[in-house]
Amino acid sequence: MKLGKLDLGNKLIVAPMADVSDAPFRKIAKEYGAGLTFTPMVSAKGIIDNEFHALRIFAFARDEKPIGVQLLGNNPEYLAGAVHELKRYKPDVIDINCGCPVEKVTKLNFGAQLLDDPILMGKLIEAMVNVAEDIPITVKLRLGKSDGKINILETAKVAEESGASAIIVHARTRSTKYKDAPDWDWLVKVKEQIKIPLIGNGSLFTPQDIKEMIEKTNVDTVMVARGALGNPFLFSRYRELIENGSDPGEPDLEEIEKVAIKHARLIAREYPEAVATIKARKNIIWYFKHLDGVTKFASTIMRTKNVEGEIKMIHEHVEKLKQNFYPKDDRELIDQKFKERVLFWLKE
Ligand SMILES: Cc1cc2nc3c(=O)[nH]c(=O)nc-3n(C[C@H](O)[C@H](O)[C@H](O)COP(=O)(O)O)c2cc1C
Repeated sequence: MKLGKLDLGNKLIVAPMADVSDAPFRKIAKEYGAGLTFTPMVSAKGIIDNEFHALRIFAFARDEKPIGVQLLGNNPEYLAGAVHELKRYKPDVIDINCGCPVEKVTKLNFGAQLLDDPILMGKLIEAMVNVAEDIPITVKLRLGKSDGKINILETAKVAEESGASAIIVHARTRSTKYKDAPDWDWLVKVKEQIKIPLIGNGSLFTPQDIKEMIEKTNVDTVMVARGALGNPFLFSRYRELIENGSDPGEPDLEEIEKVAIKHARLIAREYPEAVATIKARKNIIWYFKHLDGVTKFASTIMRTKNVEGEIKMIHEHVEKLKQNFYPKDDRELIDQKFKERVLFWLKE
């Protein structure tokens, strides 16, 4: 699959995730074989105004390439201005967020609110394309506002006609929750209608899920968000599945321990201690979410005061897991809680 000059082959894309897809997260995903990662959504106006917070969100190191930056906005001038600013950092892709359903985003008429105004959406894309030169512009969409207001065939066409190099479709509407399944039929219909590459997104948690979406809907590749949390192994497992025909399965405990610690240390290097402690905590817990004792582990690690303390907890937890110390968890329930809540998934 090609995005402008960037040839992804059959590699996968890591979704933009606010407060999650930071440099440590992206680095680990890339090491395990992700083909393209994204910085979290960032305000186009924030970039133009040189706001420190905005600059921090999209900052990336050169060795992270290929990388995409995702913009949030609804003003053609601001979006064009932000693309212009970004050009000197040479991201490989610039995306416009037309899918975020979170209220603090939609009430500013950003994100999924743009699905209601395809004409404006087209103007925004055109404004970006006009200044982007050889950087491909992509558009991240949802199916529409709600089940009765699905307009993905229209918005996909608008994106293509406005010069987008590819679209990413999260196969849910703005009002569909994570607990409802994505609707793959729409991916099939979109693919039949457009010539630019289509990237599928929504509830891909295993290499088999990914293979199935690609085979059944004909999307060119996929983008993964929740499935990559504490699980960079998804990328290497998928590659094995495609290249050698078999999925090596979940990594062993040693591998999980090693990567969780590596991730935590990268976070410690990136942020001041207090911030790092909080950021590392949620990532560490995600690495162990499919193993027994995660609730107990999470409550213990919540009490640690720094990343080194968290790393000590990882060692202790792994030892307990090896000794089958924990009673069996209700895996299905825990998995469902994680998928639906993501961030505060262990709170009652
Ligand atoms: C913690 C978190 C943060 C997210 N932040 C963004 C974002 O900044 N921009 C965006 O377009 N989507 C964002 N999303 C949505 C994902 O990119 C993705 O479209 C959605 O989660 C469906 O994919 P999944 O089923 O693989 O999780 C976020 C999702 C999560 C879980």
